[in-house]
Amino acid sequence: MHHIIYMSRGVRPMSETDLRTLLQQARSENERQGITGALVYGDGQFMQIIEGEESVLATLYAKLLQDSRHVNVVKLADKQVLRRSFEDWSMGFQVVSPKSSRNSLATSSLATWICKHPA
Ligand SMILES: Cc1cc2nc3c(=O)[nH]c(=O)nc-3n(C[C@H](O)[C@H](O)[C@H](O)COP(=O)(O)O)c2cc1C
Repeated sequence: MHHIIYMSRGVRPMSETDLRTLLQQARSENERQGITGALVYGDGQFMQIIEGEESVLATLYAKLLQDSRHVNVVKLADKQVLRRSFEDWSMGFQVVSPKSSRNSLATSSLATWICKHPA
């Protein structure tokens, strides 16, 4: 089992419709590919963890890099893991309000989760 974690910046503010479209696409494709994970959006930034077979994730990550909906894609982790952490989620999703956290995604739920599950 492998996971990749990255952050990126949306090219423009994502509306609810934009996000719903993205999630629908991601979830159905992830189900087909055996990918699970979580996506957090807040303050114009994305943070995502994707879990699955290494080669399948590499293919998805290459597509993500090409996706014109976001830029500044920075990989934070890319490694073997013992097991999935989001096995019930083809792609969990949460919007983080900038007001709810001083450092936006830096203190978001996914960032907190990552800190609690060190390498
Ligand atoms: C922030 C963000 C997260 C995404 N997450 C996924 C994902 O988890 N799974 C997925 O299949 N596509 C995801 N996508 C969409 C892919 O970048 C890409 O559009 C999709 O894989 C379809 O590519 P294709 O048309 O070349 O097959 C995401 C896009 C963005 C902008």
